[in-house]
Amino acid sequence: MASQSKLPIATYREALVSSVRENQTLVVTGETGCGKTTQLPQFLHEAGLGEGGMIGITQPRRMAAISVAHRVSEEMGKSLGGTVGYQVRFDDCTSPDTKIKYMTDGCLLRELLDDHTLSSYSIIILDEAHERSLATDVLFGLTKRLLPHPLGDGSLKQRDRPLKLIVMSATLDVKRFSEFFDNCPIFTIPGRVYPVSIHYSFTDETFDPMKTSYLSRVEQVVMDTHMEKGPGDILVFLTGQQEIESMCDKLFKSAERIDYEHDVLCKDVLGLAILPLYGSLPTEQQQRIFKQSERGIRRIIVSTNIAATSVTVDGVVYVIDSGYVKQLSFNPRTGLDVLAVVPISKSEAEQRAGRAGRTAPGECHRLYSQSFYNSLNQNTIPEIQRASLSSVILDFKCMGISNVIEFEYLDPPEERMIAEALKQLYYFDAINDKGQVTPLGRQIVQFPLQPNLSRVLLKSKSLECEEAVLPIVAMLSVENVFIRPSSKKQALESMEAHKELQEAGGGTSDFATLLAIYKLAMESGNQKRWCRDNYVHWRSLKTAQSIVGQLKNILNKQEVLGDSTEEIRAAPLGERVRQSLCFGLFSNAARLAPNRRSFRTMDGHSTVAFIHPSSVLFGCEDSLDWIVYHEIVDTAKTYLRTVCPVRYGWVKDLLPRLHEVDAYRLSDCERKRSLGGEEEEKEEEGPVSKKQSLEKEEKE
Ligand code: CDP
Ligand code: MG
Repeated sequence: MASQSKLPIATYREALVSSVRENQTLVVTGETGCGKTTQLPQFLHEAGLGEGGMIGITQPRRMAAISVAHRVSEEMGKSLGGTVGYQVRFDDCTSPDTKIKYMTDGCLLRELLDDHTLSSYSIIILDEAHERSLATDVLFGLTKRLLPHPLGDGSLKQRDRPLKLIVMSATLDVKRFSEFFDNCPIFTIPGRVYPVSIHYSFTDETFDPMKTSYLSRVEQVVMDTHMEKGPGDILVFLTGQQEIESMCDKLFKSAERIDYEHDVLCKDVLGLAILPLYGSLPTEQQQRIFKQSERGIRRIIVSTNIAATSVTVDGVVYVIDSGYVKQLSFNPRTGLDVLAVVPISKSEAEQRAGRAGRTAPGECHRLYSQSFYNSLNQNTIPEIQRASLSSVILDFKCMGISNVIEFEYLDPPEERMIAEALKQLYYFDAINDKGQVTPLGRQIVQFPLQPNLSRVLLKSKSLECEEAVLPIVAMLSVENVFIRPSSKKQALESMEAHKELQEAGGGTSDFATLLAIYKLAMESGNQKRWCRDNYVHWRSLKTAQSIVGQLKNILNKQEVLGDSTEEIRAAPLGERVRQSLCFGLFSNAARLAPNRRSFRTMDGHSTVAFIHPSSVLFGCEDSLDWIVYHEIVDTAKTYLRTVCPVRYGWVKDLLPRLHEVDAYRLSDCERKRSLGGEEEEKEEEGPVSKKQSLEKEEKE
């Protein structure tokens, strides 16, 4: 494509290729959009550097992996899944012919479980390293072990042919990456950046972060920009899908009222196109973002943080920054990760502003005040220091890395977080009280799921009810099953429809509702239509259907002892399903309080919580006693979402486990190991072997 040769990276093609040829490890940095992700793998492939194995490129975000693979296969004139492919959780689009493989970082992590030396790759590119996602951070340490001594620690059997490792990043923090790899060279792609003027939409008098919502100003600032400014697209940074969809609705309505003759100052601006951009957006709609609009049409792209560095939208001249981002963080009180809206960091604010100055001087409007900006943290805290580590630590243990405290982290997590993860793994019997992985742990790690849900599935097999539990777990793994429209009339209709679905599930639990939806949709002649009529996201259901198939494949390979008695197996199906759920979710058990309205959690914190109004059991509290929940939502009140009644007899034997072991004892075991005070974990069964290369957790 002609446009490829115009990218800043094109001039450095030869120099880059020889740098990679000459160095075992290399850091490549350049402004976002200069062509690193799409071009470098092609350069290396064409120079024959990928002959000894695939070129694998990791992305922290699922959407980036897919959209870039589309783009590159197009540029190379090949069909996707051939020479160029991608792999993300629950979606493998590669073939034996694949030479350039884009994938999520979580996917490569899972591949490492199966193939400790990554023997099918000649080059690994850890892309978007500055995002500091959990999996990419962990891959830093793990891939370093694959490099020849003295770069690697020599702890891993070396490959026939040494692996080449490239770390790619926007122009942030790159020295640290190079230091981590024994001061490897840094290749900087010079890029042109145009000045961006910064405007604060609030003064200190008008802005109070506790009270003022950025949402109150977005619409006005966007519309003013559109009416008053010269040509150029507008990129708006908000936090999440729902917020974005509802903002797009509002903007559509305002757009309809514009009189271009009289309202719009610039005569070259003739119209408006409004485009949402977020991770779970269907692929066809994502591709629209990369198509230039018609002459005279200004595009307004309303996006999550994904447009800050992961995907580059060409043509942007105006950036409107809310100052907030949705971020995963671990809630120690509930032991679960939550997605919370938090202020961005200063470097994030600079990144966002920079999107306006790629092709011409631009403007950035910040929907906050200068003092708010001054109060922001300099850098975003790496995910490894704020997210749950239980899946990653189980991966480590299964790879034979027994001491997880001593692992070579780029930035180590706090020991308290490691202890918390060990405790969770102990709850689920994935590790024993010495911190060694158990046979159950080796089964749990096979599933691209959180440990608790893997345990639910394994239990359902032993209770012979997996056919009902598989769809439930799949439905819990997809986003947004229910459509909740914003218009009043439709909102009422959707509530009616959802009520009927709850009844179809027998009205007994929210998990039963999910199962009923899945079954009814599958049995209906026209799934798409059924979903539309019932206000259910068709795409989520399609995804759930494919997940059921994949989880089933993994489950079928697991040998599960039928630990149930005749009596239990004779119990009604619903009973066995609830028992399976209870087996994995018991650490989320709660008991009705004496006031017969609220519940108290059993996780040791005794949190007072209420059943969420969207639950089928809302209003039935009085008839309940023990429940387990899938999600806890901390707003003004603490709510339990997706709830199921259980029997005391089922939790009675499980709950003591929550109090049996002290997290500090587990982390003590780890520390002793590092001092050589305790016998090394024996890897009798050898490292776990994996056939599936799926991904654990994915953002957006
Ligand atoms: O990785 P880096 O930020 O350096 O740039 P890139 O992602 O390789 O993007 C280079 C160019 O390709 C930009 O102009 C993007 O807009 C374009 N691109 C595209 O058209 N479609 C994609 N799916 C990805 C990138
Ligand atoms: Mg990139």
